[in-house]
Amino acid sequence: MSGNITFTMIKPEAVSDGYSGAITEKIETAGFEIIAMKMTRLSNNRAGEFYMVHKDRPFYSSLCDYMSSGKIIAMVLKKDNAVEDYRTLIGATDPEKAEEGTIRKLYAKSLQSNAVHGSDSDENAKIEAGFFFSDLELFID
Ligand code: CMP
Repeated sequence: MSGNITFTMIKPEAVSDGYSGAITEKIETAGFEIIAMKMTRLSNNRAGEFYMVHKDRPFYSSLCDYMSSGKIIAMVLKKDNAVEDYRTLIGATDPEKAEEGTIRKLYAKSLQSNAVHGSDSDENAKIEAGFFFSDLELFID
C-alpha cells in the first residue's frame, strides 16, 4: 500500500528567481499538506550525501555544485498516495518533457535546474525527509 508522505526540495535557482511562493501555492492547491518546511543551504558534501545514489553518474559532480550554489527549501508533504501524486504534479525530470501545467514545465530552466526534487518511493521519502528533519517521528503517523 502506498504511503502518505513525500519529500520535496525547491532548488537554488527556483528560490533565487522568486518562485518559492508560487510553487508552494501549487503544492497546497493540489491537496498536499506541508507538515515540515525549512529554508537552508547545503554544503557540497551534504548535497553529495543526499544524491549519493547518483555518485557514479557523469552529472554527479555538477549536480552537487548546483545544489550547493544557493538556498533551497526542504518540505515534507502529506497526502494520500503522496509520492505518485507529487511526481504527477511536478512533471518529468527533464522540463522539456514535462506536461503543460506541471511545476517543472512552469518553473524549471534545464534538466539540472529543474525547479524541484520529488522522492521516487515511499522508502526514499522517509530517508530524504529524515535527512533534513530529525524530529520526523513527531509529525508522521
Ligand atoms: P532530481 O529529481 O532532484 O534527482 C536527481 C537530479 O539529477 C535530477 O532531479 C536532475 O536535476 C539531475 N539529473 C538527472 N539526470 C541528469 C542528467 N542527465 N544531466 C544532468 N543532471 C541530471
